[in-house]
Amino acid sequence: MQTIPLFGRGDFAEWRDAARALAAAGISPREADWRIRGLDDELFAANALPDLPKPDKRAQPLTVPSAFLPLAEAVVCHTEPGRFHLLYRLLWRLQSDRRLLELDADKDVAWARLLARNVNRDSHKMTAFVRFKEIAGDTNGRRRFFAWFEPSHFVVARTAPFFRRRFADMDWIIATPNGTASWDGESLLFDPRPGENPGHGDPTDDLWRTYYASIFNPARLKLKAMQAEMPKKYWRNLPEADLIPGMIANAEANVRAMAEQAAKDPPLFHYRLQETAQAMPRIEPVGAGTIEALREEARGCTRCPLHCMATQTVFGEGPQSAPLMMVGEQPGDQEDLAGRPFVGPAGKVFDAVLKEAGLARDAVYLTNAVKHFKYEPRGKRRIHEKPNKGEIDHCRWWLAKEVELIKPRLIVSLGATALHALSGEGKPLGQMRGKTITMQGNIVLYPTIHPSYLLRLPDEAERRRQHALFVDDIRRVRELVESLEALR
Ligand code: URA
Repeated sequence: MQTIPLFGRGDFAEWRDAARALAAAGISPREADWRIRGLDDELFAANALPDLPKPDKRAQPLTVPSAFLPLAEAVVCHTEPGRFHLLYRLLWRLQSDRRLLELDADKDVAWARLLARNVNRDSHKMTAFVRFKEIAGDTNGRRRFFAWFEPSHFVVARTAPFFRRRFADMDWIIATPNGTASWDGESLLFDPRPGENPGHGDPTDDLWRTYYASIFNPARLKLKAMQAEMPKKYWRNLPEADLIPGMIANAEANVRAMAEQAAKDPPLFHYRLQETAQAMPRIEPVGAGTIEALREEARGCTRCPLHCMATQTVFGEGPQSAPLMMVGEQPGDQEDLAGRPFVGPAGKVFDAVLKEAGLARDAVYLTNAVKHFKYEPRGKRRIHEKPNKGEIDHCRWWLAKEVELIKPRLIVSLGATALHALSGEGKPLGQMRGKTITMQGNIVLYPTIHPSYLLRLPDEAERRRQHALFVDDIRRVRELVESLEALR
């Protein structure tokens, strides 16, 4: 086994040189043990590789398709510990399979694409959320600025050229825990050591805050989207951050005031929305079988790239004759490991609610709209990510088969993802909650919230109120099933 220690802080050339040397020595991915070494590690001189076997003169020179380079340059910037191994495996496989990168369902390809996407998104966030603060003293007439930012991955060197183009006429430093970039009008430098946050403030903050408050449009407030796009670590470094709670708190009243001023006629799209609300959602009919056979088949599902990162398919469970089916979003971290739906924190809330509403969990067929756990790896943690439309669409195939085999009288969609997967429409859950919809096959769909919503509510009183409303929903569901069953 050959150990290859890398600093691994987003430096593509470092990985490329090591990979070239390994491949020239004929060392296969199985024999290569890629390690991360500390920046102060004295064991190996900078950029020096350990002694490798002599290059094999008969070996073919390495070649890769052009798509590999941008992919690999992004993947090396990820914090996922397995990234170097993954890239080397891809490089190795590309030597005998030139079209490998065209195989969307290939595990290595899909995994690399997912890591590259995370990195590109992180880089994009950096371009959006870095806030410079002026620091005293100019150099040769050039003003000086400092910014502190906390990216999730090693994206500073990769993203710094954007700031050089945008802020070419000032000197700046962007410090992050993953390295520091600086620009002095001539050289763009990158130091991979963790930077420090000295907490500078400046008068421009006040100007920016005034501007931010004046452009804030309460009618366009999308709190969830703001929170999803801007995790807390970004907020706390923004000068406008402390204005936001007040503006959000007043948003509803401000929207009402704006609406009262607006014309009284509803907009045209209102009628279109009403029409689609009447339309029956469709689920494609599928072939027969048993739920056990279907579960078995789903174990090998590769319909979308999510199978690459997930531990296993988490299929539905419950009696095949259940009159009631409940559909969540997707398995979480614990479900992914256990292979069963709703066994983690959201599952605990869900169980408590079912119990209070007098419904036995083992009488329900319980499943998810998406059958694989989607997450972003961050160090050792796996951070839940919402499935996108494509993933929901791919997985709808399984959901439709489950519906056909179980033939429930009533389906409860838990949360917006399940509602959209079952109804095929994108109406907000807030509009649809508690409104029954008759679907194909005379199945009634009852939309309600996802139990994890209760876990996210910071206010205890509100959480208790929402919990009671959720129990009311499930009681109503129980009564509905009983009356539908009585009609059978
Ligand atoms: N959330 C879901 O939507 N489903 C699960 O199985 C667990 C958490």
